[in-house]
Amino acid sequence: MCGIIGYIGKNNALKVITDGLKQLEYRGYDSAGIAIKNNNEIKIFKSVGKIKELEKKIDYTIQSDIGIGHTRWATHGSVNITNSHPHKVGSITLVHNGIIENYEQLKQELIKKNYQLKSDTDTEIACGYIDYLYQKDKNIITTLNKIKDIFKGSYAFAILVDNDNYLYATRKDSPLIIAKGENENYLASDVPAILKYTNQYYLLDNYEIAILEKDNIKILKDNKEIKKELLTFNYNIETSLKNGYDHFMLKEINEQDKLVESLINIYLQDKKTLLNKMPDFKKYNQIHIVACGSAYHAGLVGKYLIEKYANTKVYVEVASEYRYNKLFFDKKTLVIIISQSGETADSLASLRIAKENKIDTLAIVNVYGSSIAREASKTLYINAGCEIAVATTKAYTLQLLMLSFIALAMGIQKELIDDSSFEDIKKYYTKLPQLMHNEIKRDLKNIAKNIYKKNNIFFIGRGIDYALSLEGSLKLKEISYIHSEAYPAGELKHGTISLIEKNTPVIAIVTDENIYEKTISNIKEVASRGAYVILIISKHLDKDGDFYNEKIVIENTNSLINSLTAIIPLQLLAYNIALLKGCDIDKPRNLAKSVTVE
Ligand code: AGP
Repeated sequence: MCGIIGYIGKNNALKVITDGLKQLEYRGYDSAGIAIKNNNEIKIFKSVGKIKELEKKIDYTIQSDIGIGHTRWATHGSVNITNSHPHKVGSITLVHNGIIENYEQLKQELIKKNYQLKSDTDTEIACGYIDYLYQKDKNIITTLNKIKDIFKGSYAFAILVDNDNYLYATRKDSPLIIAKGENENYLASDVPAILKYTNQYYLLDNYEIAILEKDNIKILKDNKEIKKELLTFNYNIETSLKNGYDHFMLKEINEQDKLVESLINIYLQDKKTLLNKMPDFKKYNQIHIVACGSAYHAGLVGKYLIEKYANTKVYVEVASEYRYNKLFFDKKTLVIIISQSGETADSLASLRIAKENKIDTLAIVNVYGSSIAREASKTLYINAGCEIAVATTKAYTLQLLMLSFIALAMGIQKELIDDSSFEDIKKYYTKLPQLMHNEIKRDLKNIAKNIYKKNNIFFIGRGIDYALSLEGSLKLKEISYIHSEAYPAGELKHGTISLIEKNTPVIAIVTDENIYEKTISNIKEVASRGAYVILIISKHLDKDGDFYNEKIVIENTNSLINSLTAIIPLQLLAYNIALLKGCDIDKPRNLAKSVTVE
C-alpha cells in the first residue's frame, strides 16, 4: 500500500533512500518524503507526486548516515504535503505502512494531553502517541513494546528518535524486512528496494523490534534479543530492470512463456513429481478459494478446472467479503488463498479465520517469505520473479498454471485421471510455452487503434471464458481508465444489452467447446445491435461469419490450460490501448501493487 525504507551506514543516506524509494514506488505513489539526521537535527523533505518531484526538493549536499523514507498510497487524509510522511511529533520521526484503526480514540487522548496535530492522517496520530509514551521514560524500546497492546490495525514503522543515533523498526501485519550490508544496514517494505546494495535480509515477525546501527542489527522479541535466520533474496537485479522494454508490464507479459516452461519443468516432470509437491487432496470434499482482484479471477478459472477434473465442489469468494461472511466449513474443507504479494490484508485475514477454525489452508503465492506464505499450512510458489507493474500479468498466468496442477493432482488422487490420460494431458503442457510465445508476439496495435477512444468496452464469455473476461476487463480498466464490464454471455440480454449501440466494442472469448454455440448466438445478439465485436476464439472452434469485426484465433491445447493462451491477447489489448492513451502503464493512478490495508 505504501512503501517504507530506512538506512544507516557509511554512504549518503539521502541518495540510498531516494534510490530505494524509486524501487518502492510501485507500492504507492501519491506522495513521498525523506527524513535524515544531520548534526543531530532532523531534516525532512516531502513532495506530492512521484519520486522525481521529491528529488527536486532535496539538497543532496547534506551529508547524513541515517534516514527514513516513504512512498504514500493515501488511506487517511487527502494527497498533500501535510499528510505525506515522514511525520514528526515531539522527539519521534516516523514513516508508516498500514492503518491504525483506533486512531480517533488515540487522537482524543492526545488532544487532552495538548498535542497539536497538523495532518488528517492516522500516522501522525500514531507518531504523537509513540512520543507521548516515549516522554514518560525516554525509552523507545519499552515504548514500542507498549504499542502492541494499544494500536489496533496494521503497521510497519521506521523510526528516528531525537538525540539518538539508532534506526528502529517494528511491524504488525504490514510487511517489513531488515537487510544487512557491509558497514551499513537497511529496512524496507520489501527486498527490491535495497537489492541494489544487498540481498541478505531478515524477515521481521509481528511485534519484533529491530535496532539498526551501521555495523550491527539487534532484533528483540518480548524485550529479549533473538537470533533470526539470515535469508538470501534469489531474484537478481535484472528482474527489477526493464531490460529494454518500454514498460515493466510489457516485459512481464513477455516473460510468461519462459516462466510457465520453468514451472512445468518443476512440477510436471512426471506424475510422481506432481503428487509429491501437492498436499493430499483426497480428504477434501469442498474447496474455498479466497483472493482479491486478479487473484480472485484466477480462482474463478481454478473453480472450473477443479470441478471438471476432480469432481470437487469449489466456492470462490472475494476476500474482503469472505472475512465478514457467515462461513460454512468443516474438516473436509480446504481453504486456498491466492495472492501474488502474499501481503494483501483481506486475503491474510481470511487465511487467519480459516486457521482459527482449524481448517487446512493452502496458499498460492509469488513472494517468498511473505505473510500469507509463512502462515498457510502449505504454500505453493509460482516463481514469477519480481512483478513490478501494478497490473499483474505473469503472476496471474502462473496462478492459472498452478491451479491447473492442483486440479490435475486432485483428479489423479481421486482416481478420476488414469495414467494414460495423464500422459495425454502432459503432452499439451509440453506444447504450451511455444503457443504462449506465439500469442505474445501477436501484433494487436491495429485492433487497439480501433477502440482506444471508446468510453465503454464490454467483455463476454461463458464458463471459464467468463472468468477470463473478468480479468480482461480489469486489465483494461486498471491501465487505460476506460470503463469496462465483463458479463456472462447469456446474461447480457437481461438488461445490460440496452447499453449496446453502434460500434460499442464487445470482446467475446470462445474457448470452451461445451457451450461455444450458445456463446456464438449471444455474440450475434450484440452484433445485430451494431456492436464492434472482437472475437477471441480457439482454433478448433473457429468459424467464419458476419458476427465479428475482428477475429483472433488462438491455438487450443486442453481445457486445463487453454486459458493461459487466451489471456495473452487480453493483456496485450489492454497494454496497447493504454499506450495509445498515454497512460502511466506501470503505475496507474489510484492503485498500488500490494493492498496491505482493508
Ligand atoms: C491486479 O492487476 C491488481 N493490481 C489487483 O487486483 C491484485 O490482483 C489484487 O490486489 C490482489 O493482489 P495479490 O495477488 O498480491 O493478493
